[in-house]
Amino acid sequence: MSVIGTRTARVIAVTSGKGGTGKTNVSVNLSVSLARLGRRTMLVDCDVGLANANILLGVDSDLTIADLTTRERRIGEVTRKGPAGMTLLPGHSGTGLGGGLADGARAVLADAFRPHADDYDHVLVDTGGGMAGEGLSLVASSDLILVVLASEPTAFMDAYALVKGLALRHGCTDFAVVANRVSAAEGRALFDRFSGVVGRFLPANLDYLGAIPDDPYLRDSVYAKRCCVEAFPSSPASRAFGRLAERIAGLDMPMMPGGHRFFGLEAAHGAH
Ligand SMILES: Nc1ncnc2c1ncn2[C@@H]1O[C@H](COP(=O)(O)OP(=O)(O)O)[C@@H](O)[C@H]1O
Ligand SMILES: [Mg+2]
Repeated sequence: MSVIGTRTARVIAVTSGKGGTGKTNVSVNLSVSLARLGRRTMLVDCDVGLANANILLGVDSDLTIADLTTRERRIGEVTRKGPAGMTLLPGHSGTGLGGGLADGARAVLADAFRPHADDYDHVLVDTGGGMAGEGLSLVASSDLILVVLASEPTAFMDAYALVKGLALRHGCTDFAVVANRVSAAEGRALFDRFSGVVGRFLPANLDYLGAIPDDPYLRDSVYAKRCCVEAFPSSPASRAFGRLAERIAGLDMPMMPGGHRFFGLEAAHGAH
């Protein structure tokens, strides 16, 4: 039974300033890699614009997160098992939830998740990119914000705007960064440049978790409607996802008020 104010599950929001940076591929491959390490892992697809984690996980379901938020289904009816025994809560594209996961829907979700706060070690949340208010507050409802940083100048600027919005409007202070589609050396240089700019202007601490290389096998896995770590386990990207999972599994991740909010535990705990 869950003791009020504690939980085993840590919520990791996977985000970026814009679309197409690799959030869904990071979410999916990281979830499966964490499950392979024996971690009880759930991926919640909260991208209401383009919910596609189910496709990469090969999970077929006509029930989605929208059936939870309308209270028509219970969480156990909607979740599905994916590779390595990870759990997916499929997302819902387009209408039904409006443009974003509105606060009302989030409160219903928190009610649904609360009894399961000890059933998982990691809950990953795949989000749509962008700076809309609802998207930001969803990202802020986590214990760890994982920013997927791509190397194009526009992605760099959008990631800066994202961190700025989360820091100044939501009081988020700590961010983890993974660089996507770059070599190890390029990723480190990209991160150093990014944390230099952020450190100069924003009250935020950044932690670098590593790089995922640009890998044709990853593209092929998307076309094959599979996740890379399943389809091509020894490809460069898959090995990088494995290292990222080990890094995350080894983090001493404190419970944050945002994660309490995700599970609707803040009222009981007195956090905000
Ligand atoms: N590390 C990578 N190597 C090669 N291609 C990648 C990589 N990461 C992303 N891509 C390409 O970018 C596309 C968009 O990635 P996706 O994870 O769907 O982004 P997002 O969820 O941020 O919109 C993928 O379908 C794939 O073709
Ligand atoms: Mg996506």
